[in-house]
Amino acid sequence: MRIDVVTIFPEYLEPLNVSLVGKARARGQLDVHLHDLRSWTTDVHRTVDDTPYGGGPGMVMKPEPWGAALDAVLAEGAEALAADGDAAVGDAAVGDAADGDVAVQVPTLVVPTPSGRPFTQELAQELAGRSWLAFAPARYEGIDRRVIEEAATRMPVVEASIGDYVLAGGEVAVLVMVEAIARLLPGVLGNAESHRDDSFAPGAMADLLEGPVYTKPAEWRGREVPEVLLSGHHGKIARWRREQAFARTLAHRPDLVARWQQGAFDKKEREALSVLGLRWDEEQGRFRTTADAVEE
Ligand code: ADE
Repeated sequence: MRIDVVTIFPEYLEPLNVSLVGKARARGQLDVHLHDLRSWTTDVHRTVDDTPYGGGPGMVMKPEPWGAALDAVLAEGAEALAADGDAAVGDAAVGDAADGDVAVQVPTLVVPTPSGRPFTQELAQELAGRSWLAFAPARYEGIDRRVIEEAATRMPVVEASIGDYVLAGGEVAVLVMVEAIARLLPGVLGNAESHRDDSFAPGAMADLLEGPVYTKPAEWRGREVPEVLLSGHHGKIARWRREQAFARTLAHRPDLVARWQQGAFDKKEREALSVLGLRWDEEQGRFRTTADAVEE
């Protein structure tokens, strides 16, 4: 996968040289290119921002440097990918090539913003399936809207938020997203199984948070590892882990519990849910706690 990042703080992205993502780069699984937005400014002060039309606090990122930067990234990346013979793999340009033309490859542009759609495991999976991503992290109050609108006429654009809080800029969000995406690429995680049970992974553990984990020694500062984990009984261990996941999800993410469907649980699991105070509400089609009922 090729990744381009345009930013006024390329040094902010140095963690991309470390650990899992760093190793994926060293192995050639990820081809990361960092670009300094200011290299596309034309004034002596290398200005990237200006006051907002309509007034209000803060500054807005100017369209001209962003437009020029995206043009350059598109041209450079398309050329590199065509030279690699990768051209058939990625997204064709929006609008598509005319009959007989070879479709020029374009990236999916990811714009981190607190006003974007939530960056979820599902979106990470979707983006991990693309062969080329370009990230446009903003500082200040954001990028002039016309940049995003114009980009969307040329390539798929995804505006995404990593959570309901406001960062000083999108660079940290890029680090978060790249790490979440990179670990899903084939061959990046050592053990191919190791994201199967992740919280939020599609499949058996969807909408469930992972429960606690333990390692040696079996006793530490007077605290013992739950006995079932030492039993060697795989069935019991799996059941225990699932029940722990139920309890944890109920404690930390009742919004996920509201998505559970009764049919996803066997008889013993339904008993475990009932011990946690969860009852299936036929009318509402969701699990409810006794506390829910009291609140109403
Ligand atoms: N930029 C500032 N806050 C952000 C957030 N929560 N997600 C993505 N980008 C951001």
